[in-house]
Amino acid sequence: MSMRLDPWGHFAVEDYEKLLKEFGIQPIDQVLSQYSLEHIYFTRKVIFGHRDLDVWFNKFLHGEKTAVLTGFMPSGYPHLGTAMVYEELKYFQQKGVFVKIVIADAEAYAVRRENRNEVIQRGLDFVAHAIAWGINPDKAEFYFQTEMPSSYYRLIQMFSRKVTQAEIEAIYGDLAPAKIIAALTQAADILHLQLDEFGGYKYVIVPVGVDQDPHLRLTRDLADRFKHELGFERPASLYHKLMRGLDGNKMSKSRPEYAIHLNESLEIAEKKVINALTGGRITAEEQKRRGGEPWKCTIFELYTYHLIRDDKRLEEIYYECTTGKILCGQCKRNASELLKQLLKNHQDSLKEVFESRLIEKLVKKPLF
Ligand code: TRP
Ligand code: SF4
Repeated sequence: MSMRLDPWGHFAVEDYEKLLKEFGIQPIDQVLSQYSLEHIYFTRKVIFGHRDLDVWFNKFLHGEKTAVLTGFMPSGYPHLGTAMVYEELKYFQQKGVFVKIVIADAEAYAVRRENRNEVIQRGLDFVAHAIAWGINPDKAEFYFQTEMPSSYYRLIQMFSRKVTQAEIEAIYGDLAPAKIIAALTQAADILHLQLDEFGGYKYVIVPVGVDQDPHLRLTRDLADRFKHELGFERPASLYHKLMRGLDGNKMSKSRPEYAIHLNESLEIAEKKVINALTGGRITAEEQKRRGGEPWKCTIFELYTYHLIRDDKRLEEIYYECTTGKILCGQCKRNASELLKQLLKNHQDSLKEVFESRLIEKLVKKPLF
């Protein structure tokens, strides 16, 4: 049976190699040797695949109008998986790329059937967290899907004319109307920046978790079909591995007990870390003898994605683990200290963001 990615599903991806082959996602390796991509997500292959990153990068290097765009569905609260996307946006922003961030409130309403007022409030929280994580608000734009002008909604109608049932089925399987509309809305998010009215950014890259690839396949097809009529170029994309929850399954806003939220109390964060699934052996004896299995360990994932910036130090931990020089109890306590520091810093700056009342000025809040 062929594989299918469900952008609305809850799963962990076991086999990234297979994913690359099955969907024709390009592996990151080649681009890595071609360009200097210095973020640890590249060097550690947390970002493992892409579509046309090289094309996009060339345009960027030649001074063409480039942008980075991504979106957040405001169901649940921002967590460490969300922060990976913040981190990527920050990276591109520091390179001087224009940043645009979508709050997918229409999607949360229609697909997740969330309460409207809560969606709006949480949408604002996603913006606040993004800034607290270090995204410079002077060089980024945020919007709610439902606040967009008719020219954006016009795109959705135009797209619906050129997408077939067979194509939807091939990409997503059987799809309910709300999800079809959400997918076309996401295509409008990704492509609208190319219109003159929205800045005419012809080369847009979309960093997302790989579960969003179906939307990119659809959007790239739509770009081709509107090349003539609207002059669209295909968007590029960048895929990071999905951070697993502390039980080893996907970290998801809808399974809060296994996620670390950015506004988590430090005590609860600590408890979650202490209870997390590791790559440890059944007994201490066995672990000292055979070493742990960091590649299976959610704590090692925390180190890799967020807690350890220095590659040398990360290698050291890997070595200490696989040789049985450190046991999980101690290792978890170390991780917990680092995590608490990270969360505390983030929460301190979040407080400042809220106190500055910046968010109201930055994003137009939907009225109903
Ligand atoms: N569907 C995305 C999610 O579930 C949110 C989203 C909406 C998005 N529009 C987008 C992501 C455009 C990237 C680009 O989180
Ligand atoms: Fe994970 Fe650390 Fe245990 Fe190794 S020692 S399995 S990295 S918790």
